[in-house]
This record gives sequence, C-alpha cells and structure tokens, in this order.
Amino acid sequence: MSKHRVSRRQFLNYTLTGVGGFMAAGMLMPMVRFAVDPVLKASAGGDFIATPQKVADITNEPTRVDFTFEQQDAWYTSEVTNTAWVYKDENGEIVALSPICKHLGCVVDWNKDKTNPDHFFCPCHNGLYTKDGTNVPGTPPIAPLDVYPFEERDGYLYLGKAKPRGGA
Ligand code: FES
Repeated sequence: MSKHRVSRRQFLNYTLTGVGGFMAAGMLMPMVRFAVDPVLKASAGGDFIATPQKVADITNEPTRVDFTFEQQDAWYTSEVTNTAWVYKDENGEIVALSPICKHLGCVVDWNKDKTNPDHFFCPCHNGLYTKDGTNVPGTPPIAPLDVYPFEERDGYLYLGKAKPRGGA
C-alpha cells in the first residue's frame, strides 16, 4: 500500500478546490474582459485606417470607398471591410459618410432612386438622405448618416471611426 494514499477528506478537498477555482475563473474572466475591452477597442478603432482612395481623385460625386483592416478582439483577429461614401462639397471640403441607414441599419446607396435623384437611398424602407447625409423628413430614418473623421496621408484618404454628426 502506498504511503501517499489520499484520504476521502483530502480527495473531497482537492476536488472542491478544483471545481471552485474553475467556477471562479469562469466568473472572473468576463469581468477582466470587460475591464480590458476599452483598451483593446481603442487600439483597433481609435486609429485612422488607410483607404485605397487618393485624395486628389475625390470629386463632387459621392463615390463608394471600401477599406479593410484587421480588428483585434481579445485573442481573436478578424479582417473587417467597411465602406464610406466620399466626395468633396461645394467648398472643396472632403465629406465621408457612413453607409449605414439610421433607421434599421441597412446600407444606403447613392442616386439609386430615380424619383429622387442625387440622394442617398435606403432600399429597405425607402429611406432618403440628402447629399450631406441629412435624413429627409417623412421617410423612416430618424437621424443623419454618421460621419467619418478623416486625414490625408501621403496623398491617400485615411478614415477614423464613424460618429453621429456633431458627436464627440
Ligand atoms: S433601414 Fe433604411 S429605411 Fe429602414
């Protein structure tokens, strides 16, 4: 018989300690994740992301610009593609609008509704926005399209995280 025989009491102690530790880890992990998440998000979303759009080529006509970036979410990295509608306004200022409809989140298109030319149109419930992203009263959207902050680097357009117009 071995000298290191585990008594019933010790066995129960080890088992309960192990199970308790496992359960505690299960409860603590979401809390740690919650505390650390803003830091992770800041590194993923706080930076400006390169687009393939040359600033010199931006015209007065809204153009769809797709841009892809790697998003780090805790231990998981995924490739995300976002879209912006980009143009220069009458003052030559760049405008970069989110395509996400402020009604229920469908994707808007430029100049696709022949009865309302030169508007952003949401096909899901016939939502309309003027060229500057303002929602047209009487159509379902309840707010203007979000706006991307932007920078020019080496002649290319870089976009930040889209925010509600006038939002911080
Ligand atoms: S989701 Fe765009 S109008 Fe409803």
